[in-house]
Amino acid sequence: MEKSSQQQEASYQIETTASSEQLAFRGKLQEAFVNSPLSVEDKLFNIGLYTRSSVLVKFLVMSEIYQRICPIPGCLIEFGTWWGQNLVLLENLRAIHEPFNKQRTIIGFDTFDGYTPLSDRDKESEVWSENSYSTGKDYVEYLRKLLESHEGCNVLGHVRGRHKLIDGDVSQTAPKYFKDHPETIVAFAYFDMALYQPTKAALEAVKPHLISGSVLLMDELTWDESPGEAIAFKEVFDRDEVTIEKCLLYPSKAIITIR
Ligand SMILES: C[S@@+](CC[C@H](N)C(=O)[O-])C[C@H]1O[C@@H](n2cnc3c(N)ncnc32)[C@H](O)[C@@H]1O
Repeated sequence: MEKSSQQQEASYQIETTASSEQLAFRGKLQEAFVNSPLSVEDKLFNIGLYTRSSVLVKFLVMSEIYQRICPIPGCLIEFGTWWGQNLVLLENLRAIHEPFNKQRTIIGFDTFDGYTPLSDRDKESEVWSENSYSTGKDYVEYLRKLLESHEGCNVLGHVRGRHKLIDGDVSQTAPKYFKDHPETIVAFAYFDMALYQPTKAALEAVKPHLISGSVLLMDELTWDESPGEAIAFKEVFDRDEVTIEKCLLYPSKAIITIR
């Protein structure tokens, strides 16, 4: 099947630990998806047919974390959203776990232009190279509408547009956002940028807005390939300010709870 000009070919390497044999089976799943005998409507309704375990686990992890933060007031943030799947997931978990809570603003920060340059605290990698994971700036509007459509499908669907996408380098946008919104309380923040500088800037910006019980999810805290994330974390938080757990279902992620 031909790709429309709107669809992007990934010109960058996605982080993966899959073997070549596993990648070949992934290719078969892709073929099955593209050549599916299902109508678009049935395909979307039966999307689990094509959802592999390494993707499903992300949904399960988010669902577990959502249940932890349910009693904590405040917004939900992702630093490094890429296509925004987690933002959509958070909106839908909100609808499942607390359908009448319209106070849960969900905020996504990204350059939408991919990675910014590495610092001397980061390790050279094809995965985090400059502009990799770019969605293209036009995608911001597409994602905004997608989030609104999900809000519209959910309970209280007449209240839409509560979520925010903040476009630009987090090193500038995160300090500015919290300066402009000093009232913000953050229940949950997901850090998935891997690099030292944006992670440090985002951690520093968010810290004064966390409360006891707020949860941070660090995607690459123990990854050899991304030492910058752990260095930034250790520079911003003292050990006695937080508890740190390995994510049971996804061992490379760490769950931080504010004491
Ligand atoms: C690995 S992807 C995130 C994947 C996403 N969290 C998910 O689970 O689907 C990393 C994202 O961080 C973004 N990013 C990297 N450096 C950034 C910076 N300095 N400011 C804002 N976003 C940045 C990239 O554009 C990219 O979309």
